[in-house]
Amino acid sequence: MPTIRFTTSDREVTFPDGDEVNLLRVAIRNDCGIPFKCASGNCGTDRVRVEAGSEHCVPPRRRERDRLGDLLGHGYRLACQTYVVGDVTVAWDPDQTEMELGSRAIDRLKQVWLTREDTA
Ligand code: FES
Repeated sequence: MPTIRFTTSDREVTFPDGDEVNLLRVAIRNDCGIPFKCASGNCGTDRVRVEAGSEHCVPPRRRERDRLGDLLGHGYRLACQTYVVGDVTVAWDPDQTEMELGSRAIDRLKQVWLTREDTA
């Protein structure tokens, strides 16, 4: 069975072969300690550095790419947006908080909010 290693909290969780699991969901269910806030790819609080097994993470989608920007190229992922299909090891700063929005994220938010009909 594949294993997710959470090095910062010294925890390991296995899951069935063939499953695709959400990293933050696994961490919450197993009390692994990844900080989080929105669980929807907006705040960046749950950013983790993938130390091994990045090939077992599904490729990032647009929201995660916009939110992480250059950090993505340095091995970071958002746990709430990352699905895992095999052995992976992740670490994080236990004191990390929300990320400031980068210009790409701000542009994306403007695009989303300014093109929707105002129903208020
Ligand atoms: S918890 Fe906010 S981006 Fe993942």
